[in-house]
Amino acid sequence: MKPSSEEEEEAVQGVGPWDECFEVAVQLALRAGQIIRKALGEEKHVSTKTSAADLVTETDHRVEDLIVSELRKRFPSHSRFIAEEATASGAKCVLTPSPTWIIDPIDGTCNFVHRFPTVAVSIGFAVHQELEFGVIHHCTEERLYTGRRGQGAFCNGQRLQVSRETGRPVVTAVSERPTHLCSDLAKALVLTEIGPKRDPDTLKVFLSNMERLLHAKAHGVRVIGSSTLALCYLASGAADAYYQFGLHCWDLAAATVIIREAGGIVIDTSGGPLDLMSCRVVAAGTREMAALIAQALQTINYGRDDDK
Ligand code: IPD
Repeated sequence: MKPSSEEEEEAVQGVGPWDECFEVAVQLALRAGQIIRKALGEEKHVSTKTSAADLVTETDHRVEDLIVSELRKRFPSHSRFIAEEATASGAKCVLTPSPTWIIDPIDGTCNFVHRFPTVAVSIGFAVHQELEFGVIHHCTEERLYTGRRGQGAFCNGQRLQVSRETGRPVVTAVSERPTHLCSDLAKALVLTEIGPKRDPDTLKVFLSNMERLLHAKAHGVRVIGSSTLALCYLASGAADAYYQFGLHCWDLAAATVIIREAGGIVIDTSGGPLDLMSCRVVAAGTREMAALIAQALQTINYGRDDDK
């Protein structure tokens, strides 16, 4: 996408067009992490949103208000914010070409409620509908994951690199020919999340998807309670693939840049290009692995973020 004349001018002066935005996002993610760490051990007021498993606390609101109000102060010309709790209260979730901040104040709220220490703050930034950078702070381990388009992905300054596990076609004993249908996921460690729906039909498909991967010989399937951090583990090469139905654009935006910059692939569960608003994703270290996962999955329909 063509930069505006203001962006071009900044680039000529040796400053990346979104450097200041990135630095502010990092500072805010660190500040938010301090608040979340402190609140983790305290009493919480918990409410539900779309289901009994979709939780929100006063800390989610407090952190979101802090991040959005600081961003408005620092960048008065930015008027587009997609933030989890504002969306839950009815704000529209639309990605336009204008600079847009995409914020999950606490990813892993259910973990947070239970004091399970896998929680993160996620801040993504898109311009012309293209993701420019992502900042994710694993609050309890004080790990800061960052990715900037064209500039690599890092965790606390260490460059990230995805795994190169591809899956492999099975050679059948009888024909000794690789069969497409029997491609297996041998050696793959796969991550997923349950999503908020708990009706019997959804759970049946969710469990059957997991079963299919295990039948395809995946080493394991893990559910850690935070989509963003699972995606950061993928970016770090600590797992080979991730898939989910029912996550939102604020779970995915920052992590997508981090995975791409770590050399990974982020696609739709149909096998086509990623649609940030479609509430579904497959991510992997290699295109082959992503395709194998996508082929194995049955769809769970969560609708679209921009339809709500
Ligand atoms: C949720 C968590 C959860 C996943 C959901 C997400 P939240 O985010 O990442 O693991 O299953 O789909 O929406 O509500 O804790 O920000």
